[in-house]
Amino acid sequence: MTSETPLTSRQRIRRAYSPQTLETLGEHLIERLGEHLSQLQRRDEVVLNWKLPEPNLSLAHETLSTAGDDPELLSRFRGLIEIAIRHGHNLHHPRYIGHQVPASIPLAGLFDALGSITNQVMAVYEMGPWATSVERALIERWGAVLGLTPGTFSGLVTHGGSLANLTALLTARNVSLKESWSQGIGHSNRLPVLVTQADAHYCVTRSAGILGIGTEQVIKVPLDGRRRMDPNALDDILARLRKEGTPIVAVSASACATPIGAFDPLNEIADICERHDVWMHVDAAHGGAVSFSEKHRHLIDGIARADSFICDAHKTLFVPALCAFVFYKDKQHRFETFQQDAPYLFDPSAPGMANIDSGMVTIECTKRAATYGLWGVWSLFGQQIFSDLIDETFATTRLFYEKLCEAEDFEPLHEPECNIQVFRYLPPSKYDLSEQEVGELNRKVRRHLMESGEFYIVQTNLDGVGALRVCVMNPLTNEADLDQLLSSIRTSALQLLESE
Ligand SMILES: Cc1ncc(COP(=O)(O)O)c(C=O)c1O
Repeated sequence: MTSETPLTSRQRIRRAYSPQTLETLGEHLIERLGEHLSQLQRRDEVVLNWKLPEPNLSLAHETLSTAGDDPELLSRFRGLIEIAIRHGHNLHHPRYIGHQVPASIPLAGLFDALGSITNQVMAVYEMGPWATSVERALIERWGAVLGLTPGTFSGLVTHGGSLANLTALLTARNVSLKESWSQGIGHSNRLPVLVTQADAHYCVTRSAGILGIGTEQVIKVPLDGRRRMDPNALDDILARLRKEGTPIVAVSASACATPIGAFDPLNEIADICERHDVWMHVDAAHGGAVSFSEKHRHLIDGIARADSFICDAHKTLFVPALCAFVFYKDKQHRFETFQQDAPYLFDPSAPGMANIDSGMVTIECTKRAATYGLWGVWSLFGQQIFSDLIDETFATTRLFYEKLCEAEDFEPLHEPECNIQVFRYLPPSKYDLSEQEVGELNRKVRRHLMESGEFYIVQTNLDGVGALRVCVMNPLTNEADLDQLLSSIRTSALQLLESE
């Protein structure tokens, strides 16, 4: 086959669907990924292949423009894989300790590939019988691990924590404001509110906007000294709202909240919600996975009392994005979310199927087999692996905290409850920097570390104080990495101070 003899459309299609080509290219991919993973674990590569968007975008265009030129598919494929690896983010580098996205268990990706190469989808059971079955089994299993009573609860899987919170809060809205699905929420005299806490993830307020509640109708309960929802303040707020006759959609607690990983006191919040007869929701996107750990599961005590809660497997169960779970304590509530008919999908000759068709309960109609990765690693290794990952990453974070306490030129801004640690580098007093300037210096240091590819950590702002934030999302991050991080921050900060 040469470029002088153009292929016919049938030949091009046969080439695209060739099982032999899949095998040959697949072998190369797996071999290359194995090599890549070894290099990352040896710390031979940079963490982030940092480039400004323009060159990356122009290279992406170039790959598209030159498509089909190369008669040799394998060499073209090799080139594309190389480009993707060289321009991507190396989340599996043990010095990636940035956002709450894990160095996922690599084998989970193989199961995901199985789902996507065979294009397993859901909406109705018959389109994805195995995908639906593993999803349901995982909902039942994880729900039980989380303390729900088998047979009484239900759940669903969706594309990420934001969509999971939106789905659960939509259910809460429909239950709390009975006619809202059909008539909207404008018919009530008093505008309804959503109650959450000051550090809640932005997707909670965004949900209020999407659900027609309005972002200004979100009441943020003040935090206590550990940045957790203050239960006394919540009690006062709910008492006032009830007295005024203001409709309350839900109280949305956090387990944990994003900024420093603080876990709200769920049992106390559940008592208060029960007393005021308010729907309790918990955003446990990051923290739900502690349910697997004997050592840390106390952090979410009380979660099973919530009417709804969400947990992201693509965060702390270490599987690839996206794989988010919504749980309802009362299994009937799953049918309150959408009150719609779709006769072409849901077959009245098999009404029992509605209990298992995912499209009845998710925003998505067609939905990818999002749980293949989780099902694969759970079935291969058993659920102990999730406990191991939590315990290990939490212990590494604790060790980092201890190092920060020991170092004179670093300050931890809190004691970690999980794998999130916010801290600052404190420059020598001779530089006489203001609070703002210290924050600015920390931000510059983090940019330098990111762009150099030595580490990937993030910056944050706590009550106006600029700071650094680490989230240990790789169980292979070790003590030497932590020591090197402190040393690199120190060196980089001093260089910046000297050069200014
Ligand atoms: C507490 C919390 N909730 C929700 C989300 C959003 O999850 P996702 O990024 O999967 O949409 C995040 C993301 O970090 C989070 O930390």
